[in-house]
Amino acid sequence: MTSSIRFLMCAPDHYDVDYVINPWMEGNVHKSSRDRAVEQWQGLFHILKDRAVVDLVKPQKGVPDMVFTANAGLVLGNNVVLSRFFHKERQGEEPFFKEWFESQGFTVYELPKDLPFEGAGDALLDREGRWLWAGYGFRSELDSHPYLAKWLDIEVLSLRLMDERFYHLDTCFCPLANGYLLYYPPAFDSYSNRLIELRVPAEKRIAVSEKDAVNFACNAVNVDRVVIMNKASDELKERLGNLGFEVLETPLTEFLKAGGAAKCLTLRVTEPIIPDHRAIAAVESRVVRMDGHLLDAGLINQALDLIVEGGGSFQVLNFQLGEQRQSTSSADVKVTAPSHEVMEAIVAQLIDLGAVPPPQEVCDIIWEAAPQDGVAPDDFYVTTIYPTEVRVNCEWVKVQKQRMDGAIVVSETANGITAHCKLLRDLKQGDRVVVGVEGIRTVRKTESREQRNTQEFSFMGSGVSSERRVELVVEQIAWEMRQIRDQGGKVVVTAGPVVIHTGGGEHLAGLIRQGYVQALLGGNAIAVHDMEQSLMGTSLGVDMKRGVSVRGGHRHHLKVINTIRRYGSIANAVEQGVVTSGVLYECVKNNVPFALAGSIRDDGPLPDTQMDLIKAQEDYARLIEGADLILMLSSMLHSIGVGNMTPAGVKMVCVDINPAVVTKLSDRGSVESVGVVTDVGLFLSLLTQQLERLTSPYKLAQLV
Ligand SMILES: NC(=O)c1ccc[n+]([C@@H]2O[C@H](COP(=O)([O-])OP(=O)(O)OC[C@H]3O[C@@H](n4cnc5c(N)ncnc54)[C@H](O)[C@@H]3O)[C@@H](O)[C@H]2O)c1
Repeated sequence: MTSSIRFLMCAPDHYDVDYVINPWMEGNVHKSSRDRAVEQWQGLFHILKDRAVVDLVKPQKGVPDMVFTANAGLVLGNNVVLSRFFHKERQGEEPFFKEWFESQGFTVYELPKDLPFEGAGDALLDREGRWLWAGYGFRSELDSHPYLAKWLDIEVLSLRLMDERFYHLDTCFCPLANGYLLYYPPAFDSYSNRLIELRVPAEKRIAVSEKDAVNFACNAVNVDRVVIMNKASDELKERLGNLGFEVLETPLTEFLKAGGAAKCLTLRVTEPIIPDHRAIAAVESRVVRMDGHLLDAGLINQALDLIVEGGGSFQVLNFQLGEQRQSTSSADVKVTAPSHEVMEAIVAQLIDLGAVPPPQEVCDIIWEAAPQDGVAPDDFYVTTIYPTEVRVNCEWVKVQKQRMDGAIVVSETANGITAHCKLLRDLKQGDRVVVGVEGIRTVRKTESREQRNTQEFSFMGSGVSSERRVELVVEQIAWEMRQIRDQGGKVVVTAGPVVIHTGGGEHLAGLIRQGYVQALLGGNAIAVHDMEQSLMGTSLGVDMKRGVSVRGGHRHHLKVINTIRRYGSIANAVEQGVVTSGVLYECVKNNVPFALAGSIRDDGPLPDTQMDLIKAQEDYARLIEGADLILMLSSMLHSIGVGNMTPAGVKMVCVDINPAVVTKLSDRGSVESVGVVTDVGLFLSLLTQQLERLTSPYKLAQLV
């Protein structure tokens, strides 16, 4: 017996599965045998008694889970942090454990009410005493971890649990002597696994299989070189044996029915303090404020989901609910994250949702100089499509040239501070690049339910239309395009060759001729097939009038490319009367600028196709500037490219036969996008008809 080691246990006099608070209990209510439970508990008790001192706390009626003493509290030295149980079913245990700890002379720390922490079930000391591993996600709150660090004066490493079968850290994680670790990696999120890997070298990590994990092999008690557990596979026994550990199996199946085994049934109450390891809690907290139609628009739910999914936890501090339907609500949310890195990732996403720091915590941005041309500082803020403002010298400055996936550069000019979005490749060494997430806010329109409904009616909202709604959508788009044209606005079309193959070319050409299109973006193919139709009457070798393949037609598009190459450019071919109709013809004749971006699929290419992709992106960006509406017609490549460089606020209509493409483009979190799943030829023909109806006074009268 090693008298310096003491454990606390509680006899199973009142043990039963009385309720369901974890997946193991499901289907097991009142299914455990008291006699067998007593026998199994005695088995564990005697194994421990041979190796340590075992203290007993008196079992109490009405709290059947008191048998799981690991959840009494967390002991280090003479201090104990008492558990605050998450479920009310177990809260009745707290006073009995408190009484026991006090009777033994421990200094008892109690967490604020409503801050759950379930003791040594969710907090395990590294057996070398270097730090404390603390779990959260199901029972204990991340916010309890800074208290542990402060009261116990130890570094706390927070691990997020992901699998509800392993709802306590000690169900899937067991630090062993000499720095070894027995654990089940899939029970943790990727950040936590990375943290474990950083702290425990590969040769000391003993990852168990799911089979061992569900037999609670990690819910083990380690006394020196002995590891006591319910059951282990031969493979696990061999691995532990090779590392010098002796595995003692003792069946605890009756307790598995309540979701516990060897470790849960014991609490080590002698945990010596190792000097030199001072408190460090990497856990960070900060408060953000959300304003708007928080409930109505689902914003608060989105924010809270995002915090949890990002690896943090939250507390809603103030929630001022707008009383009227049209009034807005406001909430201060305290976000807690296990590290600075995770906090920044979460806050960056909350900023996208429109979260701002509360007034007393607003501060200026932090910037760092770009270390070299084309390279941002590591921690640079990655921009989104949403209008963004940065706070410099206590003033909010609007970021110019907003686009996603860029960096924000601030500069001081004679006219004051300016801020711009820049692509990485455009950064110059020394540029002041915004880093972190301080002093950044996005300006999101807050829409009440009524406003959203009206907008949805006028522009169909964001979402993918079904076939039967296509005509209605087209009617709305036609009306929108008509308005933009009348007000001198800008419509940009991005189109793929399918427009031509489906017979939509003549309609698109008509739209350009009638002034509905102010810029055209595409690739080599749309231009080639459009001019193939003009010069040879075929598109990809198919006769467009008869719909049949023409003998030798597959060569047509190459002949066309060759012809245009001879004339040096599409414009020259049009001016020389070689190309006499079609989409590109109308662009040239009506001074509608176009940009053709090259791709690896291109034949030729046409002399106008820009094969330098950086230049092509610049051409696109220039033509998109100031657009009121972008019509994306059946080109996944070019539409997604354009979507990425377009700021929020520009209406986008994506037409594609593949719902996945449409969803990707319309899912920009804004009501400005609409997706139409249909044949692009049909869409263009309907659009032309609608525009004609709107233009003819007689037909307009009929419409009214
Ligand atoms: N000969 C050539 O030079 C040549 C030929 C083809 C493509 N390309 C180039 O390859 C790149 C990619 O071409 P892409 O944009 O055509 O391909 P893409 O795969 O990016 O997009 C085609 C899209 O059209 C959709 N589509 C198919 N049939 C449709 C229909 N009837 N109605 C509506 N949508 C329909 C598809 O779902 C798809 O999303 C472009 O740069 C293009 O210029 C070159």
